[in-house]
Amino acid sequence: MALRICFLTAEMAPFAKAGGLADVSGALLRYLHAAGHDVRLFMPFHASIAALPLERHAVGFLAGIDARIGTRTYRYSVHTARLPGTDAFAYLVDCPEVFGGESIYTASPDEYRRYLLLTHAAFQCCQHMAFAPQILHANDWHTAVAPLWLRTIYRWDKLFAATRSVLTIHNLGYQGIVGAEAAPEVLGGADRMLLHQDELRAGQINLLRLGLLYADLLTTVSPSYAREIQGAEYGAGLDDTLRARSGALVGILNGVDYQEWDPRNDRLLPRHYGANQLGVKAALKEELLARLGLASGTRRPLVGMITRLAAQKGIDLLLEALPQMLATQDFSLAVLGSGDAAYERFFAGLARAHPGRVAFHQGYSEELAHWIEAGSDMFLMPSRYEPCGLNQMYSLRYGTVPIVRRTGGLADSVQPFDAGSGSGTGIVFNDYDPQAVRWALTTAFDLYRRPGTWRRLVQNGMSQDFSWQRRVQDYVAAYERLLA
Ligand code: ADP
Ligand code: GLC
Repeated sequence: MALRICFLTAEMAPFAKAGGLADVSGALLRYLHAAGHDVRLFMPFHASIAALPLERHAVGFLAGIDARIGTRTYRYSVHTARLPGTDAFAYLVDCPEVFGGESIYTASPDEYRRYLLLTHAAFQCCQHMAFAPQILHANDWHTAVAPLWLRTIYRWDKLFAATRSVLTIHNLGYQGIVGAEAAPEVLGGADRMLLHQDELRAGQINLLRLGLLYADLLTTVSPSYAREIQGAEYGAGLDDTLRARSGALVGILNGVDYQEWDPRNDRLLPRHYGANQLGVKAALKEELLARLGLASGTRRPLVGMITRLAAQKGIDLLLEALPQMLATQDFSLAVLGSGDAAYERFFAGLARAHPGRVAFHQGYSEELAHWIEAGSDMFLMPSRYEPCGLNQMYSLRYGTVPIVRRTGGLADSVQPFDAGSGSGTGIVFNDYDPQAVRWALTTAFDLYRRPGTWRRLVQNGMSQDFSWQRRVQDYVAAYERLLA
């Protein structure tokens, strides 16, 4: 059955990307569309999108629409643009007053207004298009009010009478906590009792919690994370609500878009390789080392990292583990990332202390990300928590052995290597502890010195298949259960 789906997201690759949410949104749009579903994806027309060489069309009947939120009225228009190389297109909500800033996310306390506007726009555009979605799919705190609004503000409209809501949790660490004075904007006239009363008494509204309370279906991006967040350690203060809704919560592992992330056809690489052309990978490593100003050396393992520099990613462990490892072990390190200033200073300092062995590229670079995936021997992801994580799955396909902590999607996608049987795809450690990182790196370096064993480990990873084709079927099955 072809489904009508209204999908709300803050970011989507390649139009606007800060992290994995963008990759997942783009892939879901593309694959749901290819499977014959009618997906209308709504996202902000971020200022950065205007600069892209995209073919965009202003939608005549979606121009100059007013959205009243609290006491303010916002006027917006909608453009459509196709995902490159596909028939699938997105609806970009254009309101320069709100989305005109340079970056996708701001640290501003009124950031939530952007997303209340996006959410209203999605409902209003469905009305203008007479599009009756069977599924209203929101993502993360940004659009987590959508399920509540379906039951309140937009309940009068028969268009939405059969609509069921889905909220995907990509990251419980970001919750959209706003002051209680935002209640009129969040509720649009609905009963204050719908808000979480303890929070309200504490002067707050947690937008993500509203989604957890009111969505018909909750999904998160790996089965392990779905279990973990129901306990205090990983629940980020929302585990009580998640336990209460556990019957409505499922974990669906993210997929990999192998059109973008496969060394056999990577657009951003000059040469391509598969599991039996590892000589090409070795040559790409040499080029990457030269490009980053690192000393050449095929026998010295190169460890790669591409990451938001945030506490979630386990950088605190590295503050202690890496200086000591660099002093005692022969390896090089290529890091691409940006985020917390203290972490940026740490990696910049490491690069200064170890010229020729450590390179730190501060910032965002799609191209360098592909090069690091291809040219590194190992990929380090010591996350404190990881809802899914994409780079460990990309790394597997690139023959770049993932070294990960056993948590969330990392635990679900990397199997510990067993040298005896030759099975497994990476190095997996348990404890959130610098000693465990040291153990994992040392283990990887020992295996690297045994070429036959290493090749086996690399090729095991390259043969893994995390394609979206299968994951999309999981989403569709979940939608259909909801509609049955
Ligand atoms: P998260 O969404 O928590 O940041 P994921 O592993 O799901 O983590 O996804 C991160 C995505 O963002 C990957 O596609 C990764 O390659 C990309 N990425 C992160 N930081 C950078 C950067 N500095 N430059 C280029 N790509 C980056
Ligand atoms: C989040 C998570 C990451 C996940 C991504 C896409 O940003 O941190 O683990 O892969 O969303 O779902």
